Amino acid sequence: MGELLRVENLSYSYHNLSGETKALEEVSFSVEEGQFAAIVGPSGCGKSTMLSLIAGLITPSSGDIYIDGKDIKTSGKNIGYMLQKDHLLEWRSTLKNITLGLEIQHKLNESSYIMINKLLETYGLLAFKDAKPKELSGGMRQRAALIRTLLLEPDILLLDEPFSALDYQTRLEVSDDIWSIIRKEKKTALLITHDISEALSMADRIIILSNRPATVKKIIDVKLNIEDKTPFKTRSAPEFKDYFNMIWKELDHNEKIIQT
Ligand SMILES: Nc1ncnc2c1ncn2[C@@H]1O[C@H](COP(=O)(O)OP(=O)(O)O)[C@@H](O)[C@H]1O
Ligand SMILES: [Mg+2]
Repeated sequence: MGELLRVENLSYSYHNLSGETKALEEVSFSVEEGQFAAIVGPSGCGKSTMLSLIAGLITPSSGDIYIDGKDIKTSGKNIGYMLQKDHLLEWRSTLKNITLGLEIQHKLNESSYIMINKLLETYGLLAFKDAKPKELSGGMRQRAALIRTLLLEPDILLLDEPFSALDYQTRLEVSDDIWSIIRKEKKTALLITHDISEALSMADRIIILSNRPATVKKIIDVKLNIEDKTPFKTRSAPEFKDYFNMIWKELDHNEKIIQT
């Protein structure tokens, strides 16, 4: 397993009329190919900014981002992005929502439908392909959004708090689902969350960020003594609590961790 993503001394500041907001300061970390990594940090510390930089939506003030050893701007690699809101269009069917990304890129053809039907069937959406998003459960909507992203064949998936709009019970189920899909499709993923348990239950590597401007406080490679790891089973692993406490201690508690 080689290194897929490398972030080196990344800094970023927002500039607007009220002045400068430093969001990231000298952040460095890497993600291995096939790894599920998570970034945890307090609200407003700069997590979404980090993903926007990796996705190429904004340009670093300083520092570098490499994917597969090449500068991200010229790497020609596909980056998939999944957000808290699923951004499904209510007037399009589930199928039409799933094909949207391919349509925009003029890549929708006969063979895509074979792939789409396979994914819909595997992930329990085939019977709902003509249904409108409002007829789907929260979990089904997130699965549809993930399938739409996967069809673009991303080399890395960026997930920005994709479960935070769901209630607790659904959130546990959906995170299990989404994790299994990402694993089954052998994708490299970088999940952002402010929820320590969520990060621990899903990730092999956890990057802990400080309050704004975000700096790396610690990077933990999670090793659990359980067979057949799934987020649900991981939560009851004997080492879970120790890891939880380790991360809790690293996070700054002078500001409340609140959901945004
Ligand atoms: N477009 C923007 N202009 C100015 N400041 C911004 C902008 N976007 C985010 N910020 C500020 O940058 C900091 C980090 O934001 P963000 O990356 O969204 O944090 P997080 O995702 O960790 O909650 C916050 O203080 C936020 O207010
Ligand atoms: Mg955010």
